[in-house]
Amino acid sequence: MTTVLLPSSIALSPTLPDGVRTATYDVDQPVPDDLLDAEALVAWGNSTAQLADAARRMGRLCWVQTLAAGPDAVLTAGFAPHVEITSGRGLHDGPVAEHTLALVLAAARRLPELVRAQDQHRWAAELGGMQRLPHEGGEFRSLSGARVLIWGFGSIAARLAPLLTVLGAQVVGVASRAGERAGYPVITPAEVPQALPGTDVLIGILPATHATRRALDAAVFARLPRHAWVVNVGRGSTLDEEALLAAIAGGRIAGAALDVFETEPLPPSSPLWDEPRVLITPHAAGGRPVGADTLLTDNIAAFERGEPLRNVVRR
Ligand SMILES: NC(=O)c1ccc[n+]([C@@H]2O[C@H](COP(=O)([O-])OP(=O)(O)OC[C@H]3O[C@@H](n4cnc5c(N)ncnc54)[C@H](OP(=O)(O)O)[C@@H]3O)[C@@H](O)[C@H]2O)c1
Repeated sequence: MTTVLLPSSIALSPTLPDGVRTATYDVDQPVPDDLLDAEALVAWGNSTAQLADAARRMGRLCWVQTLAAGPDAVLTAGFAPHVEITSGRGLHDGPVAEHTLALVLAAARRLPELVRAQDQHRWAAELGGMQRLPHEGGEFRSLSGARVLIWGFGSIAARLAPLLTVLGAQVVGVASRAGERAGYPVITPAEVPQALPGTDVLIGILPATHATRRALDAAVFARLPRHAWVVNVGRGSTLDEEALLAAIAGGRIAGAALDVFETEPLPPSSPLWDEPRVLITPHAAGGRPVGADTLLTDNIAAFERGEPLRNVVRR
């Protein structure tokens, strides 16, 4: 009998083939002794320490399925090399695309400044009334005609790009390999420096890897036009926060909307909180693995038959 451990952090009910049973474990506690022999572990919201403990003590473990799209927490937990890791890639596309669109529109329509003005009971006349037309340029005030560069053009970006297109944006992606994906042109990181001066909004949706660490850095911000906004919903480690803040405070770029941070929760002492042109959301883009039961049903069946799993993470 194969045992699959399900996390206490989410209600899951995958369809199980014969010969498989599930048991629920508390993601805030070490896996109890009587469940340590399980072959498969589903992770969602586990602490780093809990995952590291599971990696150390679950001697018969063959497979870890995280429901997160970014498998970084599971990859760094210390699971033995033979343990297959699969991600929740695809489960977060809708929610993250929607949140990213909200951040981009908030930047274009100056919602952070408008909310701050409302807090002060101030009619922000400079942002209302008669405005320049979008095509008059010099500012990012509309998605109509805006040039958007999405760095990390994977599953989430493929959902987001059409939402931007429908509002009139021109979208280009960045990924490890160039070509066309989901109908959009995709360039490599080596081509990014040339693309930055013609970018109105730079969106980061990169995974946390060694190669992506601080990919969005001072050199990147320096090549963007002054009116550009940076939006990051990938992982905090992919963006140099100090360099971003310096670029915004120095008027090098117009502002940023950030959902992910190097340290989470963002410490109260972070100067990002006090920069009026920074919009902060608390890693709120995803958090809702849509279709987790289907992924689990498919992968448990494949695991039991010894067939390839969906969303295998290369280690
Ligand atoms: N804020 C949130 O709540 C939230 C929620 C879900 C996910 N996320 C983050 O979003 C990330 C992306 O999710 P996804 O589902 O879209 O993943 P995905 O489908 O695996 O896409 C990742 C993309 O990043 C590209 N990439 C990876 N390393 C790169 C590098 N060194 N240079 C350039 N491009 C690189 C990949 O290019 P190739 O395809 O060419 O390798 C791929 O296009 C996750 O890893 C996670 O960190 C955040």
